[in-house]
Amino acid sequence: MQKYIDLVDSALRECVKIKDNPQKKIYEAMGYSLFAGGKRLRPVIMMMTAKMLGKEPEIVLPFACAIEMIHTYSLIHDDLPAMDNDDLRRGKPTNHKVYGEATAILAGDALLTLAFETAISCDFEGVCKKSVIRAAAELAKAAGADGMIGGQIVDIDSHDEDEELLKYLHSLKTGALIRASGVIGAILSGAEGKQIDAIDGFCKNLGIAFQIQDDILDVEGNEADLGKPIGSDAENNKSTYVTLFGIEKARSLSEEYTRKAIHCLDIFENSGELCALAEKLIRRKA
Ligand code: IPE
Ligand code: IPE
Ligand code: MG
Ligand code: MG
Ligand code: MG
Repeated sequence: MQKYIDLVDSALRECVKIKDNPQKKIYEAMGYSLFAGGKRLRPVIMMMTAKMLGKEPEIVLPFACAIEMIHTYSLIHDDLPAMDNDDLRRGKPTNHKVYGEATAILAGDALLTLAFETAISCDFEGVCKKSVIRAAAELAKAAGADGMIGGQIVDIDSHDEDEELLKYLHSLKTGALIRASGVIGAILSGAEGKQIDAIDGFCKNLGIAFQIQDDILDVEGNEADLGKPIGSDAENNKSTYVTLFGIEKARSLSEEYTRKAIHCLDIFENSGELCALAEKLIRRKA
């Protein structure tokens, strides 16, 4: 995994260089959260997908950076007092704690727009231009009102949901960007319909398993490992897989979704990396 993380980290460094101009502070705030130490899960999924399809992971790098920027922006805004009101993220004080709420909102906005600039402003050697446009549309959709933002708005109002609505909420709030990671990796690699559907299925199930584990860690995780506060869901009266089913059942559900995810990759011969990643994610402590 580390080789993929190194690749995306050095590309991200190039994207967010602090310029010596009057708006210098915005680059500092963007870089602060971007380099605070996230797992880089979404870029890793995208690059592993390209690799599985026989391409060099570098071909998806602009989109891998873009999706990490969008994810980071979503976390900056998610932590704001108006939302989850959390003080710790990726092991450091949250963006608004350091830079103030106004700058944190703007840093999020700037990361979202930089994401699209990064995704579409390169020469894309070896990638068909039509695929780039399709991938950009997938990215926009996954980030927006029928994607991550859609999930966040349902989450804000969620208090005693049934399983169906909770699954829906998860599929958007966390699932949309995870799904887009695999699908964009596949599109840019020139995958055909059946292959894209299989990767989509893998990511859909993986996304649910991942968010269930996130809910579990919010209850029984450890702040030092996680780098974010535990008990945030309870404090905000959130309905989660844990409040709905209890820890044990939540654990078996995340196991079940991981199995389903892995099963979707049966049509590929070299899905080893993605399968190992899925296994690793349900046992993660951070
Ligand atoms: C946290 O995502 C928020 C969710 C969508 C559950 P990650 O657990 O991927 O956070 P980082 O990127 O490692 O900080
Ligand atoms: C937030 O979900 C997911 C997004 C930012 C879209 P959570 O609120 O559960 O994420 P954490 O637990 O704060 O990382
Ligand atoms: Mg939240
Ligand atoms: Mg939160
Ligand atoms: Mg959470």
